[in-house]
Amino acid sequence: MQDLNKLWKIFNKKHTDTGLIKGAFSAPGRVNLIGEHTDYNEGFVLPIAIGKKIIMLGQLRNDRLVQVFDLGYKAEVKFSLDSLSPSKKDTWANYLMGVMDEIQKAEYPLQGANLIFISNIPKGAGLSSSAALEVVTALTMAKLNLLEIKPVEMARLCQRAENNFVGVACGIMDQYVSCLGQKNYTLFIDCRSNDYELIPFKDPNYQVLICNSKIQRGLANSEYNKRREECKIATEFFKHELNREIRALRDITIDEYKKYQAQLPEIIARRARHVISENYRVQAGVQALRMGNYSAFGQLMIESHRSLKDDYEVSCTELDLLVDLALKQEEILGARMTGAGFGGCTVNLLRREYIDVFEKTIKQGYKKITGILPDIYVTPPAEGAKVIKLG
Ligand code: GLA
Repeated sequence: MQDLNKLWKIFNKKHTDTGLIKGAFSAPGRVNLIGEHTDYNEGFVLPIAIGKKIIMLGQLRNDRLVQVFDLGYKAEVKFSLDSLSPSKKDTWANYLMGVMDEIQKAEYPLQGANLIFISNIPKGAGLSSSAALEVVTALTMAKLNLLEIKPVEMARLCQRAENNFVGVACGIMDQYVSCLGQKNYTLFIDCRSNDYELIPFKDPNYQVLICNSKIQRGLANSEYNKRREECKIATEFFKHELNREIRALRDITIDEYKKYQAQLPEIIARRARHVISENYRVQAGVQALRMGNYSAFGQLMIESHRSLKDDYEVSCTELDLLVDLALKQEEILGARMTGAGFGGCTVNLLRREYIDVFEKTIKQGYKKITGILPDIYVTPPAEGAKVIKLG
């Protein structure tokens, strides 16, 4: 990550000081350890914030104009807070505009700002670079405008920005953990109540490692929406069959599923089985971590991958290959695809002393079959969005 002073220098070259409040802020990407495609079913997830992040510098302006510079892509946009509408040309700016739109819709007053940001979260890799951009924008605008927006409210506001302005029907997980992640902890989120609990993840013997397949998540959007629809069909079915309040697949037990599965269309039954069993796996995973049982946790990750591959069908050849190569290694406890699927990354849990051998073997094995050299990131749970102290 570029040195902060250097970033300020570039900022100051671009903008004359408005004499108004300024500051530096950051928000991380995330990797989900377990609980995939459960957030929009009002279920459970267990992500961590990662060491890769976006840093944004900003200064308030006296008018309603926002001027943003993306240092990585050397791209600039200007827009007014009075006429926010999605841009077809500068689609990246929609994440920022969407957040400002939602802040204003929540009736917080905003003034314009000069902003500059830089990211080291790989794009399109399923590590939530978009959520990080939303969250860092929300934090920057909130702090510059002296607004008190609590982290959970901030996460929900950013999710709405993505749903309403960017047009992606994502759940709450990514924005939530980017806001609330903490060093050495996983975040156990109940996506119905929006309550969370920090679960320690700091045994020095174990490490989380991410493998980037470098396959961009091309199909992700349309298939994501399709899965949401299929889950809705399953929910409607159970609503009709069971004589109690059912709001989402979260409300169905495994026994109920087993009793009725034969009456569901085959594909819908498999989609439901993934979500229902995944919710159990997250809860079992939390128990395992509480007891320091990392190998039990790893086993649940392996089961999760199988379920995502066979029942939810959101994996792809390259992700399966990365998981297979990982599971052939010694000292690996668990491996699975992570995020929406159809490309992006796998998340692996292994003994720390084995990292170097693991990296080398995965790189060689994956390159030999696909011709692609995967990127590998070692990442203990990192902290969520924060103000960066100056000087
Ligand atoms: C994407 C979405 C999340 C979540 C995951 C799948 O990352 O943004 O809300 O649904 O896919 O678990």
